[in-house]
Amino acid sequence: MIRKAVIPAAGLGTRFLPATKVLPKELLPVVDRPVMEYAVTEAGAAGVTEIIVVVSPDKDMLLRHFAPNPELEEGLESRGKQRQLQSLRAIGAGITLRSVLQESPLGLGHAVLMAQDAVGDEPFACLLPDDIFLAKQPVIGQMIDVYRERGCSVLAVRRVPRDTIGRFGSIRFSTHEASVYTIEDVVEKPDPAVAPSELALLGRYVLTPGIFAALARTGRGAGGEIQLTDAIKQLLSTEPVVALEFEADYFDVGTIPGFLKTSIALGRAREDLRVELDEYLQRLISSPPDRPPSSA
Ligand code: G1P
Repeated sequence: MIRKAVIPAAGLGTRFLPATKVLPKELLPVVDRPVMEYAVTEAGAAGVTEIIVVVSPDKDMLLRHFAPNPELEEGLESRGKQRQLQSLRAIGAGITLRSVLQESPLGLGHAVLMAQDAVGDEPFACLLPDDIFLAKQPVIGQMIDVYRERGCSVLAVRRVPRDTIGRFGSIRFSTHEASVYTIEDVVEKPDPAVAPSELALLGRYVLTPGIFAALARTGRGAGGEIQLTDAIKQLLSTEPVVALEFEADYFDVGTIPGFLKTSIALGRAREDLRVELDEYLQRLISSPPDRPPSSA
């Protein structure tokens, strides 16, 4: 029922400069996959067949990762590299990706608005590539299940320590049934002292097309940007919106510490890397930081 997903990937990647001077931050590798591939794979596993990637003017390179590369495939084939060939062919299999442009970095809400024509008048998923989830059932799939039951927009939430809520959007809810909360209000980057709850919005959304009219009416909010959260607040005056406290392990690759921790965690999640990584981490932790053991 949800066929389309929007992946906003137009951010400047300022936190990662100079690594992102040429390379879009969504192509930085976590273990052996670029950041954005995690979101694309998750959407595909939940039944999405079309992804609209919102890019900034010089980010064409992003889509190339998901397009076939016949020359490279031939080279691998002729050298008998079947495993690599399979993993290459599996990237984004069954999904059509297209890009739409966000000319200026006016914020997440503005980026989603740029996808309006491509999405049309149907509900859609939205995945922020900075948030990576490991789960038996993809988080966006868990949310699509809730959408099927409730027929309204669904936001992903997770409980966080109060002193960190200011980094996220936060929800105020009236009631909840198991892990589904009926939302009364949402606030982007609240002051922790007055935040409506400790339930933080994370980067997965199922949105009804009504969000586009709300976005078109939304002015600049937190950080001087057009915020998706502020448009959801407007949507609440005309439609119900619920939040799902999802089941998954959550990783943040939007900051340098988060990126490094995620790389280690997802490296350890791989059986072929675990023993060597663990052995190194143990030696590393007992060494002075200015004299780390060799990684060779
Ligand atoms: C965005 C959203 C915010 C959400 C966060 C999750 O913020 O605006 O509501 O909590 O993603 O990662 P950003 O991280 O882009 O500042």
